[in-house]
Amino acid sequence: MISSQNGAERPRVAVVFGGRSSEHGVSCLTAGEVIAAIDHDRFDVVPIGITTEGRWVLESSRPGRFAITAGGLPVVDPDGAAVALASDSGRELVVSEPGAVPHPLGEVDVVLPLLHGPWGEDGTIQGLFELAGVRYVGAGVLASAVGMDKHFMKLVFAAAGLAQMPHILVRAQQWQVDRPAVRERVAALGYPVFVKPARAGSSFGISRVEDPEALDAAVEVAHQYDPKVLVEAAALGARELECGVLQGRDGAPPEASVVGEIELDNSSGHTFYDFVAKYVDGGGVARVPADVPGAVAQDVRRQAIVAFEALGCEGLARVDFFWMPGGQVLVNEINTMPGFTPTSMFPALWAASGLDYPALVDRLLCLALDRSTGLR
Ligand SMILES: Nc1ncnc2c1ncn2[C@@H]1O[C@H](COP(=O)(O)OP(=O)(O)O)[C@@H](O)[C@H]1O
Ligand SMILES: [Mg+2]
Repeated sequence: MISSQNGAERPRVAVVFGGRSSEHGVSCLTAGEVIAAIDHDRFDVVPIGITTEGRWVLESSRPGRFAITAGGLPVVDPDGAAVALASDSGRELVVSEPGAVPHPLGEVDVVLPLLHGPWGEDGTIQGLFELAGVRYVGAGVLASAVGMDKHFMKLVFAAAGLAQMPHILVRAQQWQVDRPAVRERVAALGYPVFVKPARAGSSFGISRVEDPEALDAAVEVAHQYDPKVLVEAAALGARELECGVLQGRDGAPPEASVVGEIELDNSSGHTFYDFVAKYVDGGGVARVPADVPGAVAQDVRRQAIVAFEALGCEGLARVDFFWMPGGQVLVNEINTMPGFTPTSMFPALWAASGLDYPALVDRLLCLALDRSTGLR
């Protein structure tokens, strides 16, 4: 029996989802699936939605509550009863319904934040949980923040000896004062290049730039998302491979999943795995496991674990790679809260590795319950 701090028999799990990011609806869909997959005989589940305005509300765990409807993706109920982690005990959830006296809901044993992007995957909400002294699933403050910021992510990967595509950093201020110098450094990388905001995701703000004439527009687009922009040499002819990593149990080393591949449908008109290919028209096909030589898969799995450990990740991560035509495997990025619907790559990688969706959710909750609060 897993111990509980709320005095009840079953540990209480607060599933937190929705949020202010553009991935609100996807997060709600994921929450519906995760809540259905949790073993309710073993865990007491409290669904907490964050509205698009940022209010925390007590949500429903009714089956089908977060299904896709004719109206589109589900959203968190904007009129739900407000819920907060009480500041005095930290872990206590308090509900305030309109016109009623706020009442405690009891202590939370573990939070499962199913949020992607800013305010979810970037260390900010993790900081709130650290302050509250409540356990939570996934990477801590620093690993989340570094994973979200491609500039620092690349520095940490380089320090760990991982090979990456050459790139430069272009701050908005530099771009304003010395554009010719930036253009020269980009030319030294060699066209085509990829221009990307340092802290975005879902391919937001990313452009593939074929020649110098198109550079300015791409940098301006990326700067709309982030004053820090990266310009990276294109991995020409590379195949995109992805690998899931899970923290080991009881201090065991992290484990890597089988390797998957995202293949662009050549007839789709996409020149890279952009937002539309990812979420709108299915222009990318996922292959699990990837059809690659055993030595390549082995290299990907090894590097995925090096990347996970380099950032000091906890719980889970998905690490993405370029397999170059010359045979080299280069790391592209890490996601500390990867897409998590049952059809997303991360759960598919683990299902193919022998861990089905309910078992994966259970493993993540147990890992988080096992860890201590504070410095680890
Ligand atoms: N250097 C590169 N060479 C080739 N393709 C790239 C490069 N950088 C990004 N891409 C393409 O753009 C997609 C999104 O870039 P990525 O860095 O993974 O950002 P995000 O965090 O938004 O997923 C990748 O999956 C790939 O298709
Ligand atoms: Mg990516």
